[in-house]
Amino acid sequence: MVANRFVYVKTFGCQMNEYDTERMLNVLAEQNYSKTEDPEEADLIVINTCSVREKSEQKFFSLLGRLQNLRKKGRVLLAVGGCVAQQEGEKILDRAPYVDLVFGTSAIDRLPGMIDRVIARGKAQVDIDLTGEETEPGYHPLAARSSSYTAFVTVMRGCNNFCSYCVVPYVRGRERSRPQETVVREVQALADRGVKEVTLLGQNVNSYGCTGEESNGLFPQLLRAIDRVEGIQRIRFTTSHPKDLSGSLISCFREVEKLCPHIHLPLQSGSNRTLARMNRRYTIEEYQDKVERLRAICPDIALTTDLIVGFPGETEEDFQDTLDAVRRIEYDEFFSFKYSDRPNTRASGMDQKVEEEEKSRRLTVLQNMQKAITLRRNRALVGKVSEILVEGGSKRNCVQQMGRTGTNKIVNFEGPSHLHGEMVMVEIVAAHPHSLQGRLL
Ligand code: 5AD
Ligand code: SF4
Repeated sequence: MVANRFVYVKTFGCQMNEYDTERMLNVLAEQNYSKTEDPEEADLIVINTCSVREKSEQKFFSLLGRLQNLRKKGRVLLAVGGCVAQQEGEKILDRAPYVDLVFGTSAIDRLPGMIDRVIARGKAQVDIDLTGEETEPGYHPLAARSSSYTAFVTVMRGCNNFCSYCVVPYVRGRERSRPQETVVREVQALADRGVKEVTLLGQNVNSYGCTGEESNGLFPQLLRAIDRVEGIQRIRFTTSHPKDLSGSLISCFREVEKLCPHIHLPLQSGSNRTLARMNRRYTIEEYQDKVERLRAICPDIALTTDLIVGFPGETEEDFQDTLDAVRRIEYDEFFSFKYSDRPNTRASGMDQKVEEEEKSRRLTVLQNMQKAITLRRNRALVGKVSEILVEGGSKRNCVQQMGRTGTNKIVNFEGPSHLHGEMVMVEIVAAHPHSLQGRLL
């Protein structure tokens, strides 16, 4: 029996990385590692990295620099996992020779073996094999809960789309899906532990289970299977590629009872010229047509998106097309980013790069436009009654509780803490830019 040890994990990036962090903690718990929030106390420090934009990569390297002294001082092992690890491999050791382990996005299950080898041989280990872990069906252990009542469940990994700006296909590999029965079993196990809401994760959930070019409706089938899991009250999913958003998935918003009325549908740009150069394979007209179909089937559906400004060659006119699209579509909220060159991507080799200052200007204009739209949409909810899942205490105020509507809006309200994990009805009494104020009914 190995003595109890401590692991500290720092996670950068998306929800998939958060899920992977939980998997790392599960794998490490079997080796008697318990989680600590204090890096000074840790026997093992893991950094789960993100490389989707240059900024997140820079944040990781500066953290690595700060951890150098801790590593040199003590007997702690320093491990780098996730997308930057996958992308850079051995090169991380050239830049930071004090790192003990570099493990890629598919090496999570092999982490304990790597740790043993580092200790036995006193030599750094690198594993960025993208093919290993997925060969075995049902490879995922149960994910620990991201909060007490809500959890992420990965249903597919990787991406075949190669949008020209995106590093994901290079660091996460090709699409592969988990079998339906393992996903359902994991959701059932989460429900048995009190989880009420699951968010199904994948880079492109609409190609869940697809092996060829054609979408064969396996994701809607998965949603229906999860709908039948007792104890689960809400289902969400992210992300769906607009080109693959099928009629049968749109229908799920009417037919699958537990599916929340919210869809995240990344647009990236409102200009057809830019969309083509991004290799997105849809036009703004096709995108808008799908939005109209979603709203016809589910009038209250909340819509969120991702947008990039300053893609190489983006003119003022292209940018105006994005502003027009945002004005017309009226998203509930969006995530917006300045284009950033990523290794290996086609866009990084394109000319006509947009100046940093101009990218910042466009981002500010776009975000200011959305702020007004979000506030207007939130204000329209005042006086309405909404069902929320109470997730816990409010961040800002200890007598307040916090929950989310099906449309994924945060509602703070006064109420007792024994409501945590319950579905309750509230009347919306005030609207703020990022949250709503409710009154418990
Ligand atoms: N530059 C800026 N934003 C990017 N994204 C992906 N790659 C880049 C990049 N190179 C954004 C996209 C995607 C989101 C997760 O990150 O909007 O949908
Ligand atoms: Fe990246 Fe495009 Fe795949 Fe999304 S669909 S992960 S943006 S390549």
